[in-house]
Amino acid sequence: MDDSKTLGGGGPVKVHDFARRKRAGEPIVMITAYDALFAFLVDDAGVDAILVGDSVATVLGGEETTLSATIDQMIHHGRMVRRGCGRALVVVDMPFMSYQVSPRDAVRNGGRILKETGAGAVKLEGGAEVAPAVEALVTAGVPVMGHLGFTPQSVHQLGGPRQQARDHGALETLIRDARALEKAGAFAVVLSTMPGRIAQKVTHVLSIPTIGIGAGPLCDGQVLMLMEMLGLSGGDGAGHSKRYAELGSEVREAVARFAQEVRGGLFPGAEPTGQAVE
Ligand code: KIV
Repeated sequence: MDDSKTLGGGGPVKVHDFARRKRAGEPIVMITAYDALFAFLVDDAGVDAILVGDSVATVLGGEETTLSATIDQMIHHGRMVRRGCGRALVVVDMPFMSYQVSPRDAVRNGGRILKETGAGAVKLEGGAEVAPAVEALVTAGVPVMGHLGFTPQSVHQLGGPRQQARDHGALETLIRDARALEKAGAFAVVLSTMPGRIAQKVTHVLSIPTIGIGAGPLCDGQVLMLMEMLGLSGGDGAGHSKRYAELGSEVREAVARFAQEVRGGLFPGAEPTGQAVE
């Protein structure tokens, strides 16, 4: 890996590196992970940040939405990711209803996440309405990444995972929300599922970086969901994630071959394949 191409050079990535990277016009790379094994692999591959998304509830947990994720689950997965990660900034999602009720709640829960996982920041969804929570967290020493556009915790209100901010009025609201997050002290904002020209405008008015997912090429960075880009999640890959591998079919084929060999008396062979167990 060439360290000059990653945030923070060779050292651990800090939230302050993000704004510097935007000013220098150098794209930020973030990816999701939920455990130490994948955290080790993606950190070693040179990503700048690992997001322990509340998508863990759907991607690993098989739930329909992210709403069931709890603080204890996020801490459990955040701690695993932190153990596997040497250099990238670890950002842990604050789950539904852990910051919406009051800034006090937000500080208590965000503080727990940082303290008990060793992560460097939290992410939460929403705009001007969550700015008081963002400000309280930042004042308490908890760095915050925002998340605008399609926000999965509001899936029922938004009517499904569909493109956001399609008209002019929506652009004004989005810019107002993004500015509110910036003013409250957020160090970066995820822009999800919106036309590229809209994400470009938001990116232009902010001094903090935007990290896009399904938001076109003109954000300051990009985030993908690891299991989708590896072809490990269900579906046909028609979502906003480009597939960089097809590990799902490789796993299926490997396991089917093993089953076939066991049933056909081919595995194990006459020669021992593993270490003897005393
Ligand atoms: O939870 C998650 O994985 C996310 C990504 C969609 C950015 O928030």
